[in-house]
Amino acid sequence: MSSALSANPLSAGEQQQLRGFAQAVAANSYSPYSHFRVGAALLLTDGSIVTGCNVENASYRLTSCAEQAAIARAVSEHGPNIRLRAVAVANLNGAPSMPCGACHQTLSEFGNDDVLILYPGEDGVNNSTTLGALLPKAFRMQFLNTK
Ligand code: THU
Repeated sequence: MSSALSANPLSAGEQQQLRGFAQAVAANSYSPYSHFRVGAALLLTDGSIVTGCNVENASYRLTSCAEQAAIARAVSEHGPNIRLRAVAVANLNGAPSMPCGACHQTLSEFGNDDVLILYPGEDGVNNSTTLGALLPKAFRMQFLNTK
């Protein structure tokens, strides 16, 4: 078992389930420009699972990543105090993909360094890491208390 898993243990079955939710919601992706269909599934600390997919736009920079869609949905459905336990990302393109840099910051708003990140790695192998490993120095709310 990796250190990522021992810091935030999720059974192999739970991990597969979360990856499955991410894979399933990727089928709803709106991605007529990139054709890269992405899904994200958030496991909240209360045990809820919330999903989202990427939603692109003709004005390319307005595209919403799957992780961001899932976070917006999670806050909308569960309120502002949500906390993340794990996040799974999947795509229907058979490609390796982890959350992009912008999504690291978005996820960090609602999760500690030990949030487990499940993603498709190289050569079709499932991989995992932690939010803290992806973004060790997130910009955090506390920094705004300058008075
Ligand atoms: N995308 C995501 O949904 N999540 C990521 O973390 C990486 C990129 C989407 C955005 C865009 O619709 C497509 O993948 C290609 O970049």
